[in-house]
Amino acid sequence: MDDRALLQELEPTVARLLDHHLAKAKEWFPHEMVPWSRGRDFQPDEVWDPEEYAVPDEVRSALFLNLLTEDNLPYYFHTIQNVFGDGAWGEWARRWTAEEGRHAIVIRDYLTVSRALDARVLERARMRQVSDGITPEPENPADTMVYVTLQELATRISHMNTGKLLTDRPGYEVMARVAADENLHYLFYRGVTDAAMEIDPSMVVLAIDRQVREFAMPGTGIDDFVQHHDHILLPLVVRHWRLESLEGLSPEAEEARQRVLKHVSRVGSAAGRLRARREREAQLVDAR
Ligand SMILES: [Fe+2]
Ligand SMILES: [Fe+2]
Repeated sequence: MDDRALLQELEPTVARLLDHHLAKAKEWFPHEMVPWSRGRDFQPDEVWDPEEYAVPDEVRSALFLNLLTEDNLPYYFHTIQNVFGDGAWGEWARRWTAEEGRHAIVIRDYLTVSRALDARVLERARMRQVSDGITPEPENPADTMVYVTLQELATRISHMNTGKLLTDRPGYEVMARVAADENLHYLFYRGVTDAAMEIDPSMVVLAIDRQVREFAMPGTGIDDFVQHHDHILLPLVVRHWRLESLEGLSPEAEEARQRVLKHVSRVGSAAGRLRARREREAQLVDAR
């Protein structure tokens, strides 16, 4: 099926999912979530003191990467607009951009007042990131749908995990609020991908094969096999997209299906080893 015909056939689904999204999405205000009373003035050239907000380095780097991904949204918008075109798709892409902008606002304001990151380093990194303007550019609509579905899910997980590791309530609430939005984005793209699957399962399985094996989300901090396997590959790729039981695939898509399943089981084994190692370490700590 050619790209234009696919997108045209999906248009009513996109319009329906957009309506659903607008009905579900709650209005919220970044300025009402930021603990402003913890803020203060900064002197030019002031040196950042990490002790002002003590938190492990991994949490700082997750916050840093998550925010830079949100900042990079003009380029995601560009990719989405290019691949999907206008109409209901365009309406979705503009709304989505506005929501992602809200994420960048609330996280940056929170970081500025909590001083969990060095604001100078962060601003320089934002300049660099946006000046480079690099985003993944999947080659066709099916690959793009699969990619953004994986990406929104990974982003949801990453924001949520990061929020849980913050030591203050407002920080947790900011990240949980953003994660709730990412969940709606995920459901939108998953719904579109489901509809494409109904139209042409082989095309979507080929896209899943390419995207799942290549998937490395810049900025989500999901480099953990356990998270990746238990919260993305198994529930979404295997169960939701029914990878094991799909019928009527072309020979090429059949091979792709086998490759994805093999990939999932490899990641699953790595996850199992990591889980066992963590359990052993936890027991050692308990025994002390
Ligand atoms: Fe976001
Ligand atoms: Fe999102």
